[in-house]
Amino acid sequence: MSYPVYQPAEDSYFLAEVIKEFLGSKTKKELEKIKTLDMGTGSGIQLINCLKAGILKNNILAIDINKEAIKHFKNLKIKTIKSNLFSKIPKNKKLKFDLIIFNPPYLPENKYDKLPDTTGGKKGDETIIRFIKQLNGYLTKNGVCFLLISSLTPESEWLAEAKKQKLNVNKIKTKSLFQEKLYIWEIKNKI
Ligand SMILES: C[S@@+](CC[C@H](N)C(=O)[O-])C[C@H]1O[C@@H](n2cnc3c(N)ncnc32)[C@H](O)[C@@H]1O
Repeated sequence: MSYPVYQPAEDSYFLAEVIKEFLGSKTKKELEKIKTLDMGTGSGIQLINCLKAGILKNNILAIDINKEAIKHFKNLKIKTIKSNLFSKIPKNKKLKFDLIIFNPPYLPENKYDKLPDTTGGKKGDETIIRFIKQLNGYLTKNGVCFLLISSLTPESEWLAEAKKQKLNVNKIKTKSLFQEKLYIWEIKNKI
């Protein structure tokens, strides 16, 4: 799939702010151990933020379904996979992450916009539900995922799926925009 790379917007900056705060509470030694997955990396704003905070390049994996997003990381020498969510992560490697960041496509499709940079299926929650179904298999025991969702995204189905997957979910921050609210959810495995 190939379409223009999503340029950082309000949602990207809001999520980046939360990640910065989270990583800001860690020591240098802790930061150097954090294995990070930047799902739907787009321009790479989230992973660049992680690098600035002290996460090591070798500990970052970036995934995007968009060929164009993957191209521009070649020079940065970041490990990248062009993949539909987790589908191309080699199964035999049993990769797990301490930090998973996802600013997903979360809007319902409309006749003008159907691209997966912003639209997450007919209702808007389809990509998120697929992500939640697989998430716990990729989180370390104490791992955490920060997921951004909008008030325009249906909430009940993905929350039910998270419960089914025995995930702990907490809405930790809200940002009000003109016509919608953005939420950051912190998601962990139940211990
Ligand atoms: C809203 S943009 C966020 C981009 C960037 N992370 C940010 O915060 O600005 C959503 C990104 O997810 C990617 N994406 C959409 N569906 C995906 C899927 N099924 N698997 C992997 N990436 C996907 C899009 O190509 C896009 O780059």
